[in-house]
Amino acid sequence: MCPSAASLPAVLPFINEIDGWENAGGSAFVDHAEAIISVANECLLIALKLEPKPAYVWANLASACYMIGDHPFILSLLLSLTVLFFIALQTPHHRKTTAQQPDTITSKSGGGLSIRPGYSSYDEYIQRQLNKTLNPKLRKIWTTRDWERKVRVFAQFFESLKRRNLLFNDSKALSIGARVGQEVSALKSIGVNDSIGIDLVPYPPLVVKGDFHAQPFMNDTFDFEFSNVFDHALYPWKFVGEIERTLKPGGVCVIHVALSRRADKYSANDLYSVGPLVELFKDSKVVEVRKVDGFGLDTEVVFRKNKSRNI
Ligand SMILES: C[S@@+](CC[C@H](N)C(=O)[O-])C[C@H]1O[C@@H](n2cnc3c(N)ncnc32)[C@H](O)[C@@H]1O
Repeated sequence: MCPSAASLPAVLPFINEIDGWENAGGSAFVDHAEAIISVANECLLIALKLEPKPAYVWANLASACYMIGDHPFILSLLLSLTVLFFIALQTPHHRKTTAQQPDTITSKSGGGLSIRPGYSSYDEYIQRQLNKTLNPKLRKIWTTRDWERKVRVFAQFFESLKRRNLLFNDSKALSIGARVGQEVSALKSIGVNDSIGIDLVPYPPLVVKGDFHAQPFMNDTFDFEFSNVFDHALYPWKFVGEIERTLKPGGVCVIHVALSRRADKYSANDLYSVGPLVELFKDSKVVEVRKVDGFGLDTEVVFRKNKSRNI
């Protein structure tokens, strides 16, 4: 992993330090210095977000020059690197990278998908998810008081999918972000016996440990995948890419999302219409979109993976 995650905060004190350059010389120098610092500051913040690795190298180089006291040199260094950085932004390679990992995907059909800012690293995102999932009091409630009610509602959804010939007793089924496995239990209760869940925290025998951004399964494994945790994906394109990788050709994926209200503080993205979700599925067709009432989620989107490979 690039140093973005853990080490970026180490870069930031440098920025604060160069903000205090008023004592470095006469007022003309200070004016120029402030202007350059402010441009460099903004560029570095953008760089940290878009290209953390070069930004990190850049900041440390500048920091080293500053420490040896060569202020005019650091100013020209910052200026040239600023220009170089923006030239680099225009290269086809960079355009490709940012297009694959957008902060906001605006759908052709209107509405969007935004990734929530605020995670300085992937570990921080995982830790936030775990804080809730590992909470012992909540786990007690999920496995006792909540259990019957949730299994019953999930079973109704799955029965309905069976009636529509989208799920069968002999389907090999995966539930993504299944927490303590109520949805897996529901699948089994209606006869879909070969069912398993994945979550960051395992709950044997119903749920195995797995990150949905990198599913621990081989290509073309499942006939059916269900998830009501799309909003927890920090990288929605990976979430969907993994579903399409592990679904068999012709397999069905059912996603429950909330469009009419914003999800909770553990969500990592906000979806404003079905369009961006549909566009993430590069090798599938939409079978159906319908309103549902599923634990705060209001829309069910059903996809079928193409029989012949499209990607
Ligand atoms: C809102 S809960 C939903 C749980 C369950 N589907 C239900 O309806 O009861 C979100 C779940 O997604 C899991 N989760 C979050 N990020 C994940 C990731 N990257 N990989 C796998 N599971 C994740 C959390 O641990 C949590 O159990």
